[in-house]
Amino acid sequence: MGGFVLAKSTKDIDVLPLTILALRRMEFRGKDCSGIAWVESGEMRVVKDSFPIAELSSKYALNRVSTSLALGHTRYSTHGKADPRNAHPHLDCERIVAVAGDGALRNYEELYAELVERSHRVVSKSDFELVAHLIENYVRKGLNYTKAFAEAVVRLEGIVAAAALFRDGSAAIYTSHQPVYVGLGRDVVVASSTLSSLYGTVLGYAVVEGGELVFISSGGRVEFADLSGRSVAKKFLAYDLGESLVSTDGYPNHMLREIYEVPYSLLRTVSAVQSRYLELASKVALRSSRLFVIANGTSLHAGHIFSYYLSELAGRIPIVVSASEFPLYYLDSVGVGDAVLAISQSGETSEVVRSVYEARLRGATVIGVTNNINSRLTRFSNLYLPIAAGPELAVPATKTFTSTLVLLYILAKSVSEVSSKPVSKILSEAWREVGEVYRVILSSLDRVRLEAEEASKSISNCSSGYVVSRGITYPLALEGALKIKEAAYLHAEGVEGGELRHGPIAILDRNMFTVFIEPLEPAAASDLMNVAEDVLKYGSPVVLVSHIDEGKERPLAKIRVPSLKRHFMPIGIAVALQLLAYSLARYRGIDVDKPRRLSKVVSTQ
Ligand code: AGP
Repeated sequence: MGGFVLAKSTKDIDVLPLTILALRRMEFRGKDCSGIAWVESGEMRVVKDSFPIAELSSKYALNRVSTSLALGHTRYSTHGKADPRNAHPHLDCERIVAVAGDGALRNYEELYAELVERSHRVVSKSDFELVAHLIENYVRKGLNYTKAFAEAVVRLEGIVAAAALFRDGSAAIYTSHQPVYVGLGRDVVVASSTLSSLYGTVLGYAVVEGGELVFISSGGRVEFADLSGRSVAKKFLAYDLGESLVSTDGYPNHMLREIYEVPYSLLRTVSAVQSRYLELASKVALRSSRLFVIANGTSLHAGHIFSYYLSELAGRIPIVVSASEFPLYYLDSVGVGDAVLAISQSGETSEVVRSVYEARLRGATVIGVTNNINSRLTRFSNLYLPIAAGPELAVPATKTFTSTLVLLYILAKSVSEVSSKPVSKILSEAWREVGEVYRVILSSLDRVRLEAEEASKSISNCSSGYVVSRGITYPLALEGALKIKEAAYLHAEGVEGGELRHGPIAILDRNMFTVFIEPLEPAAASDLMNVAEDVLKYGSPVVLVSHIDEGKERPLAKIRVPSLKRHFMPIGIAVALQLLAYSLARYRGIDVDKPRRLSKVVSTQ
């Protein structure tokens, strides 16, 4: 995972400096490893290591290299830790091709077995190394480089954007879902995972859409094609991204950029699940005497939703508890036979790490769920499942929350089916389901954002408020309130709908907003809508977050959430709440990426 830059000059200009600069501009996609490949006198050269591109450049004296064709990469680890071998670009056995990419291969295990069987020497744990061997495999069969690349990418399942640099000076790119940008400058072609990294080097660019390929001949001719080999005509747009937006990839800040990454991150998450670890985790969760779920903040809210997933799908009810409370209440009773599922985006939250350490000492089995595979949580866990959402820089967690939900859904499904179905089948079904969620969320993002903006106007003058729901969406009320507090500095409390009349309603007036998340359970929904009518009578400005497309006659602001299968609804609702908190913060002029007093990782206590 990470991003790549492929640069080629048609006039023998040295493209290494611009490649390095472009990589530095996309380090928000990860920078725990970096690497550059180029062709010199017909030989493939590669330098790569486990540190960012600036250090790589000085350690390997890249300023002494001059090349008119380079492929560079900056990496975030999801398969294989930060290690020089796992850094991209990757080579095949014969050094015919160098490959760098972004995404996660869903059929990694199957391709690995097939390639090793055909005596390819796979030296890393990175899924993208397999792409290089796969291309080599087709070259061995007699195909030319272009055809070999086209044949290879058809075999890739998951979310993949891959660039290949060939020994003869030609290159190729393929993307399955995420856009890739091909820019044209004076005597250079530069292709990149991000539009912002092309700043200052190109005059115009074309967008390569999911399912498309690009071929760059050794002479610099650029051609676009689809997977069936048909050529695709591309419109080149003038490059007009302002310098102020370069560091956040065209968005005003990282928080909004990361919310817009939600659909792609969902696909990364499901693609990164490896069946043997999922199987192990499912068996541990199924057979343990007690299953504790521990986490803090947003990750704890994901844990509460997991409790609904697991009880509804597998009939098991875990004990979900804050990692801060776990040592005070449960730890002394923990022993052999118990399991702890620890969720932490950073993998470094001190309460989580300490609890996991103590639980292991007492004989419990620990399953880590984290977005950081180089973390203490992965070291202290018996096994871990990667969230694989890619780096998250804004302090408010957004795409990592939705990706955690998808991962926990897959785990719950697997716990319920592991005894009767192969895990590979469970994963294929999950891929299909999540593919639908990806499409629906992607196509509704702009509309939901506009509605969230409108809704935030109606409550931005309030001094505090409630976020209310029931059932499986109740943890989202807690999460929505947390997002509003940390992003918009506005006091908000998550309330279970049935509790509203047991006290909280007493202080409602026109200075206190109420955000109702329409429950998914029909009886709870109708009860809560009656409460909403009362709340309106007391003058509280109300925002309704609902998947039901009616009720416009009510005097309230509404954010319509796209309809999805029950267990995926929390994902759509979470995005709506994130956008609401984001819009409120913008109205209030707050730096959403770095809220005061908060840090991304709470690692000391
Ligand atoms: C989320 O928006 C918050 N920044 C915070 O609550 C966070 O979820 C919490 O600190 C736990 O972090 P972790 O997932 O990295 O353990």
